[in-house]
Amino acid sequence: MKRLFFVLALVLPFMAGAQSLTVHHLSETHTLIQVSGNDRYVMLPVQETAQEASVKVLSNGNVVLRANISLAIDKTDYLVPLDLGKWGGSSILLDVTMTQGRGVRRDPSDDVCWSEMVTVPVVDHANKEKQYRPTYHFSPEWGWMNDPNGMVYKDGEWHLFYQYNPYGSFWGNMHWGHAVSKDLVNWEHLGIALAPDDLGAIFSGSAVVDTDNTAGFGRGAIVAMYTSDGSNQTQSIAYSLDNGRTFTKYAGNPVIMAEDTPDFRDPKVFWDHQTRQWKVVLAAGQEVQFYSSSNLKDWTYDSSFGLAYGNHNGVWECPDLIRLPFEGKDKWVLLLNINPGGPFGGSATQYFVGSYDGKTFKCDDLPTVTRWMDYGKDHYAAVTWSSAPDGRAVAIAWMSNWQYANSVPTQQFRSANSVPRDLSLIRRGKEVILKSTPSREVEALRGTPVQYTLSTAPVELFDKPVKAYELVIRFSLQKKEGATFVLSNEAGEQVVFSYEAATQTFSMDRRGSGMVKFSKKFAAVTSAPTRVGGKMELRLLMDSASIEAFGEDFAMTNLVFPSAPYNTLRLYGNLKADVTLYPLAK
Ligand code: FRU
Repeated sequence: MKRLFFVLALVLPFMAGAQSLTVHHLSETHTLIQVSGNDRYVMLPVQETAQEASVKVLSNGNVVLRANISLAIDKTDYLVPLDLGKWGGSSILLDVTMTQGRGVRRDPSDDVCWSEMVTVPVVDHANKEKQYRPTYHFSPEWGWMNDPNGMVYKDGEWHLFYQYNPYGSFWGNMHWGHAVSKDLVNWEHLGIALAPDDLGAIFSGSAVVDTDNTAGFGRGAIVAMYTSDGSNQTQSIAYSLDNGRTFTKYAGNPVIMAEDTPDFRDPKVFWDHQTRQWKVVLAAGQEVQFYSSSNLKDWTYDSSFGLAYGNHNGVWECPDLIRLPFEGKDKWVLLLNINPGGPFGGSATQYFVGSYDGKTFKCDDLPTVTRWMDYGKDHYAAVTWSSAPDGRAVAIAWMSNWQYANSVPTQQFRSANSVPRDLSLIRRGKEVILKSTPSREVEALRGTPVQYTLSTAPVELFDKPVKAYELVIRFSLQKKEGATFVLSNEAGEQVVFSYEAATQTFSMDRRGSGMVKFSKKFAAVTSAPTRVGGKMELRLLMDSASIEAFGEDFAMTNLVFPSAPYNTLRLYGNLKADVTLYPLAK
């Protein structure tokens, strides 16, 4: 009986959801879908746990797009749009190869994706993640996001590109998504900037403004360099003459190749004022490499750094080299993201302070020293904006951790970024350390402040649930004295913040913070070295699913998934604290 139905299904293609999709099952695993009509989008049903199907889009018989998509087998978690806009008017065919394991043989026509696939003229991107969609942090409208990429400031716009999967809220099919902002807090979504091609998926990279037209693409072109992730990793460039709205890939790609270097990626281009040349720093195995160019197309290897330095318990990724003023001179800071190997497991951002002469980076510290930029679990792939105004070094990080990024409890989108942070160098005792301060633009979100003096009695923060707020807590500690603050909600979920004098540390405990069981690696206490004693200030930036803590000499970023916003603040310790509470809203 089953067999008969299967044969019928082969012979009688049936009409899927909308009139304009005709499905032909050619075998148990191979299906062709003819798309007709004028709708611009095919909505593809995704089931997150389904094995990925390989989807080819053919326009007039030519393959124009390939993607791996977890097409729904027995239930649809959500629909993702396949945009046919570019090929409007042509004959469109979707060529789909599904996977069928021996243990789960099934009739292809039973898969729910075929009947729930529809075409639509416009896509509704309204937010469906009521609980954990951030209110003031950047997140993609739908789909998966990891590293921030290609950040560049031009003509009053802060460009943010990002590692993006438009075909599911988990890693894969890497594109560059694009958004712009005039104020670093309100973002306009501009869709896809770069899509995979024959050289590979579009991995992380950077962008610069070519003011003098050194590359010959045009004066003021935005030139992006990214990793083409194909059978090997190589570096490619693309340029935009319309402020990032459209990009053209350079015909001579790739522009940097290396033999026998498996992890060879994440180029960060910058202009070196000393040699008046373009430079790129990229991750190459367990080191970073520097290259020079006069035209962004032809690159010469300069030097390498890092083999014996810092932490090597993971893959080196996403470097950045920044010049920062320090006590009247220039210093150079090399940011280096590493996964795994972070101080609390998984991914994290380390940095090296030193000098750079236009060719070689020298670290001021001994090779055995490891420094972390942020002491939370959810700060990764941090890099800075190119040509930010007033010489500012403004960084942004992906606010997640590779240990569990694909399983955090959201579906319409996965992952948000940190708030933008201005970087500076400060002294702590004999050390020179990198300080991250929320960029001043974030303060524009502050509403009317409320002041409290906090002692033993708990304080209710708001009389209704509020997800986005900032607490500035000021207090004095005697030597040898610690302090503990607890934020909690009515469900008894809580986050504990402690200053410990004996260890001179600040810690954040999210083990009881709400939903933590989606990954064994999520429940954690993170801690940062800090000076405990005397006058102290702690800033906490709270959003739907994140806490960013800033002390005078540390930053700590952690995700949290409470069932309701934390609304009670308590202080434990023999002291009083002055608290300023700001609701935050755009
Ligand atoms: C870092 C990273 C990069 C790579 C990108 C791929 O999170 O692994 O090294 O370019 O993500 O999405």
